[in-house]
Amino acid sequence: PEALTVGELANRMAVRGGDVVKAMMKMGVMATINQTIDADTAELVIEEFGHRIKRVSETDVEDAIVPPQDVDADLKPRPAVVTVMGHVDHGKTSVLDALRKTEVVRGEAGGITQHIGAYQVTTDNGQKITFLDTPGHAAFTSMRSRGAKVTDIVVLVVAADDSVMPQTVEAIHHAQAAGAPIIIAVNKIDKPDADPSRVKQDLLQHNIVVEEMGGEQLVVEISALKGTNLDSLVETIVLQAELMDLKANPDRTANGTVIEAQLEQGRGAVATVLVQGGTLKVGDIFVSGATWGRVRALVDEHGARLDAAEPSRPVEVLGYQDAPSAGDDFIVVDSESRAREVAEVRARRMKNHLASQGGRGTLEQMLSAI
Ligand code: GTP
Ligand code: MG
Repeated sequence: PEALTVGELANRMAVRGGDVVKAMMKMGVMATINQTIDADTAELVIEEFGHRIKRVSETDVEDAIVPPQDVDADLKPRPAVVTVMGHVDHGKTSVLDALRKTEVVRGEAGGITQHIGAYQVTTDNGQKITFLDTPGHAAFTSMRSRGAKVTDIVVLVVAADDSVMPQTVEAIHHAQAAGAPIIIAVNKIDKPDADPSRVKQDLLQHNIVVEEMGGEQLVVEISALKGTNLDSLVETIVLQAELMDLKANPDRTANGTVIEAQLEQGRGAVATVLVQGGTLKVGDIFVSGATWGRVRALVDEHGARLDAAEPSRPVEVLGYQDAPSAGDDFIVVDSESRAREVAEVRARRMKNHLASQGGRGTLEQMLSAI
């Protein structure tokens, strides 16, 4: 708070208001219980009462909630987080769909991905892989520009009948900028006009050289529709993940990143959060973007309730006060007052930022501009 009354100050120190008035008189300041005093005066009074204070600036408040630092000894293997990218209609959702052996494509309105789906699959030999489906590159760009690193590996889907397209090139740039290794999935090889060698040829122009051309680029030719070679795609992902030796500390309070969020009738603000460190539990209090909440329920991709979510698990979090935005952070804190405090500081800062930009635009636009 910028200013508080003598009475409030007394309350905070758990002393009588009258005693504070008296103490201030001794200091040469005449004040009544309801009078507002500034921070400097308050500091003097607090010291007079033998309390130590630390001025908490808004930056301090936010800095105080970085996730706990992990030491190597606490790190344990975690599943890889794989983002599936590629040009429109090249088959991203179909690939995921085939891997999950479910029916997402058919359920989507018009067959176009409206959101980022996030799912964890378990391979035949029990390895878990987390997949993120992207609707386009806007969300990914906004996440990356805000420093959220969510993906370990990029699977780049390129349709064999269409070859390298503008969004294929964009995805290559995103992956390279994020430092994420790429696995090329040449899809739709079942099509009569499929030409996988043209795809490989076209990729050369973007410095992607596949093995048979003397390079090191991992490439798998698949048909998501017919289920061809999906096992080797999974194998390639697992191999790549093993090389990366991915680890996190599951034995602490959780932190992560919001993958998507929306307001749902009857459920309130719901966010899909990728847990990146620690273990998230029902009942945990968290700050996320400029909002906060208490985990009321954790729901997995099958709609099943979970008690806890470990590193690399995407999970729906219920219990948000307000909907956050894709790319927002998620950090468990130890108390509701702390969560409120940090969320308020962030909301205020966001409002100021918005005001300084002329006060136009949606929250979403503003966030992606940060
Ligand atoms: P957006 O999310 O809209 O960018 O598309 P997407 O990349 O997720 O593509 P999606 O999986 O929706 O597939 C687009 C179309 O290609 C659909 O009609 C699929 O049935 C078809 N398709 C996907 N994979 C294959 C394949 O391996 N072979 C053939 N023949 N068709 C495929
Ligand atoms: Mg899709």
